[in-house]
Amino acid sequence: MSNVATKKLQPLHDRVVEANRSLADKGLLRKRVKVMLDPEHASCFEVDDLPYINFSSNDYLGLSRDPNVIEALYSGAKDFGAGGASSPLVIGYNQAHQQLEQALCNATGHEAALLFCSGFTANHALMKTLFNDSDQVLTDKLVHASVIDGLQDSGATLKRFIHNDVASATHNFERHAPCAVITESVFSMDGDVAPLAELSALCKQNGAWFIVDDAHGFGVIGDNGMGASAVAEGIDIDAQVVTFGKALGGQGAAILGSRELIEYLVANARQYIYSTALSPANAAAVTASIDTIINTPQLNQKLQANIATFITSCDAASIELTGSCTAIQPIIIGDSARTLAIAKRLKEHGFWVGAIRPPTVAQGSARLRVTLTAEHCEEDIHAFVAVLADILQDQ
Ligand SMILES: Cc1ncc(COP(=O)(O)O)c(C=O)c1O
Repeated sequence: MSNVATKKLQPLHDRVVEANRSLADKGLLRKRVKVMLDPEHASCFEVDDLPYINFSSNDYLGLSRDPNVIEALYSGAKDFGAGGASSPLVIGYNQAHQQLEQALCNATGHEAALLFCSGFTANHALMKTLFNDSDQVLTDKLVHASVIDGLQDSGATLKRFIHNDVASATHNFERHAPCAVITESVFSMDGDVAPLAELSALCKQNGAWFIVDDAHGFGVIGDNGMGASAVAEGIDIDAQVVTFGKALGGQGAAILGSRELIEYLVANARQYIYSTALSPANAAAVTASIDTIINTPQLNQKLQANIATFITSCDAASIELTGSCTAIQPIIIGDSARTLAIAKRLKEHGFWVGAIRPPTVAQGSARLRVTLTAEHCEEDIHAFVAVLADILQDQ
């Protein structure tokens, strides 16, 4: 590299180093840990040769280790290939994708589906492609970063209502006449469920679209675990984003909606047109996950039993919970440093829990994000709660 080029790069390098230092000073520099998975027990892993019981996974049903799902991934790779090969608009759309889209439509009642390689991309594509700078869009205050980024990139004017507050949504409707309302079904950092029926009715009354990010709902809430649209009669969702990396134990996502919406996205969504298709092996695995969820209700029953055990056990130990009834059970600590210290002490006792801090959650609301899965056993849950109660008392 010439001297001139080195000099030109230097300011950028300095900027990166300075940004890292500033985050590190505030205790906010995010880092990865390398996890050694246990092939036998999905709820266990090792980090630096130390064993942990995992209370931070979104693999709520343990399907990433399910033998049928793994077999489908294997035979999907053999039959259709391990990789997507090209954009779906070239030759990257095949029978594995078509079968998964059909399974998703059957499960949710939507007319059509479109597959993406991640939920972040699906949300971003939907927002950026659907809206433009003449639109006002109303969202719950806590919707995911991918929705916010997509809306910002679309140029739409973003209005927010108080989290899960139908009165606030109604008030905002009267003031701003939005063309769409967007919520999550199960909120990723809070675990509470949106008032889906009320928001759907509000949208119907006002001729607006109802859009739901069902990332943490599909697979575990609603009739048969089939997500937001299956929670109650009469919930009409115009566009629903389901992700495969959480309860379905795979990877990727889909946008579900009318035939016209999907046709529009195929023709216009740059994230779909200019990107390699979802791996067909993964599509086959996700199709098997949907079958497994429908045909093995015991998985969801086990998850619900574990959630109930956790809540009862916390209640007995006087640990304050938030009232969430889903697999996501936050314990609000408030201060970021204290949250980190508690998570560290839990690790010393062999329990791995995410310490969630700003900017992921609001200032002053740092929390332990405890997640339950169908893979946990009762003894692990009781042991975890006993240790947590001791640590909370000490701190
Ligand atoms: C609510 C919500 N939506 C979308 C996403 C993105 O999904 P994916 O992990 O498939 O990119 C996430 C993942 O963290 C999420 O929590």
